[in-house]
Amino acid sequence: MPDLARCVAEAYQTALPHRGQGKVADYIPALAGVDPDRFGFALALPDGTVHTAGDADEAFSIQSVSKVFTLALALRRVGSSLWDSVGREPSGSAFNSIVQLESEQGVPRNPFINAGAIATTDRLIDGRSADEAVDEIVAFMRARAGDASVAIDTGVAGSENDTGARNRSLSYFMDAFGTLRHPVETVLSVYFRQCALSMSCRQLAQAGLFLAFEGRDPRTGEQLLDPHRARRINAIMMLCGHYDNSGEFAFRVGLPGKSGVGGGILCIAPGQGSIAVWSPGLNEAGTSLVGALALEHFAYAAGWSVF
Ligand code: DON
Repeated sequence: MPDLARCVAEAYQTALPHRGQGKVADYIPALAGVDPDRFGFALALPDGTVHTAGDADEAFSIQSVSKVFTLALALRRVGSSLWDSVGREPSGSAFNSIVQLESEQGVPRNPFINAGAIATTDRLIDGRSADEAVDEIVAFMRARAGDASVAIDTGVAGSENDTGARNRSLSYFMDAFGTLRHPVETVLSVYFRQCALSMSCRQLAQAGLFLAFEGRDPRTGEQLLDPHRARRINAIMMLCGHYDNSGEFAFRVGLPGKSGVGGGILCIAPGQGSIAVWSPGLNEAGTSLVGALALEHFAYAAGWSVF
């Protein structure tokens, strides 16, 4: 049995000299001012232990990591009919690409590219108001993180809305094909707010635990999602969680993961634990450069891999 506290410390120390590398996302102005030297790491284990390093208690914008949780909630709400609206194939394209939507009749490749996440959020709304859907997302994240302070950063959500031309284009394009069931602005009002959830590595790692334990929160025994659905979310994370960088992440880390342009990555080790890292400098595909490096070292040191 590896000494996991030591593995966390070693992974953090190994990646630390690279801190500040990569490019902080600036297409959402509210994210552009984040300090590139921030770096946090948290490992949550089923007995409730959390091992941390660095800035693990500082809140950051989870951005596309939220797509994992809205996928879980949408599956819980509408079941397999979700797959009428979105596929589960890697896109091999950038997170905000529109090109495949035209030849594929407005059905996005998977729930993690922006178009697919917007289509998933549309199904999650399921006839409710935008605020009701957002309330469900926030309540779920608070319960999973075990921390009622988890909240939406309204400044970031407003900034996303103000600069949302690309997401509006994707949404109206899907709407033209009949993919969306609610008005574009209703769907985007939820999508922008889910992306603007502000959480620390400690909170995010704990929130991911149910995915490592077949849909069950190992701390409370609560079954939150069917086991086969939790496994399938992990499969999609492995194949699509980093867009056109998913193969590289699987090759280097060997665990399902989901990145966000805020610099966070959630990584699931089935049957073992859940890991969250944060460092704002990104590679070309929008994955945290230092975060991926730390995860690679951690997985290697702990001997954790799904392969
Ligand atoms: O929709 C957007 O562009 C952002 N709110 C989320 C993008 C994102 O995090 C992509 N992930 N690496």
